[in-house]
Amino acid sequence: MKIIGTGSALPEKVVTNDMLAGFLDTSDEWITTRTGIRTRRLLSHETLRELALKAAQAALQSSGLRPEDIDYLICSNVANSYVSPSLGSIVLGQLGCSCPTFDMNGACAGLVYSLDVADAFLKSRDMKNILIVAAEQPSRFCSWHDRATCVLFGDGASAMVVTQGEGFKDFRLTGDTHTEVMYYKRQMERTPYDRVEEPTEPLVMNGREVFRLAVEACINDVDTLLERNGMTGADVDLFLLHQANMRIIECIREHLGQPKEKFPTNIQKYGNTSSASIGILMDEMSRSGELKDGQTVMLSAFGGGFVTAAALLKWSAIQY
Ligand code: COA
Repeated sequence: MKIIGTGSALPEKVVTNDMLAGFLDTSDEWITTRTGIRTRRLLSHETLRELALKAAQAALQSSGLRPEDIDYLICSNVANSYVSPSLGSIVLGQLGCSCPTFDMNGACAGLVYSLDVADAFLKSRDMKNILIVAAEQPSRFCSWHDRATCVLFGDGASAMVVTQGEGFKDFRLTGDTHTEVMYYKRQMERTPYDRVEEPTEPLVMNGREVFRLAVEACINDVDTLLERNGMTGADVDLFLLHQANMRIIECIREHLGQPKEKFPTNIQKYGNTSSASIGILMDEMSRSGELKDGQTVMLSAFGGGFVTAAALLKWSAIQY
């Protein structure tokens, strides 16, 4: 499987750390030194559906394919205002596609999870082209009175078209139950019969524990993929990691003993855009020419669950 088109879309509204310090007990200094984040984009007058559509259209256009060439649409999303229909169903018709679709919740690892599913579909079914959209609005999971969570996230969407061909070499996915370290409970309707009180709650996160789990799990995934493929960190040209915290990326980089240039970031501008983050980075780097034909790339992401997903691939240049 290889990637033949990429796209991304971000909300227009730029929110700086100083803007947050206007109503929260926080500071630009705290946020920057603990996370690396300077600004984030937040949905204001747009909807997540519009962002998802924009990213998908850009990916489709760069792939050179028509909507009718798409055999499946996988949409990675943790939550949006529609529980049903799926976000994929909503985007599908507006794109002019009429293929099957489903939403996948692989938390912040959802894009790499989707790539793994797409790879399996392309190998086992009579399909040629799959569109993957990762669209997230984590800003709407947080309490905006909770300085420990809301400063971390940003909204955004990314998309890619994958097809049969040489590119992805290997995947490693993991799952484990650590509900207590990070969860968000949204509202369900009551019935006359339910007897279990489940209060809704904005995002609850044990930041330190998530940090620890993230570093440990990502290192494990990356080391496993390298070892399984007879490689070392030196054989990888770029590590495109989930953009959750600059210090998490730095810990993984230090473990691998590789130079900073191999770990590009855009968390400074966008914060943690959940499963959209790796795709936004990829799209920006592919369009700017920083991602070059033939480069060996490692993707690695982690998220609530606790789930992780990593992938090893050789990049093929895309004409935009
Ligand atoms: N501004 C100022 N102070 C803040 C703050 C903010 N935005 N958020 C938390 N603090 C305070 C805490 O209240 C605490 O104060 P106390 O010592 O008086 O109790 C202090 O800063 C230290 O908090 P702590 O949580 O220990 O800080 P930390 O160094 O672990 O950094 C995170 C917090 C959230 C930045 C860090 O743990 C992290 O990034 N974890 C991973 C989170 C993540 O990636 N989640 C998404 C996964 S997909």
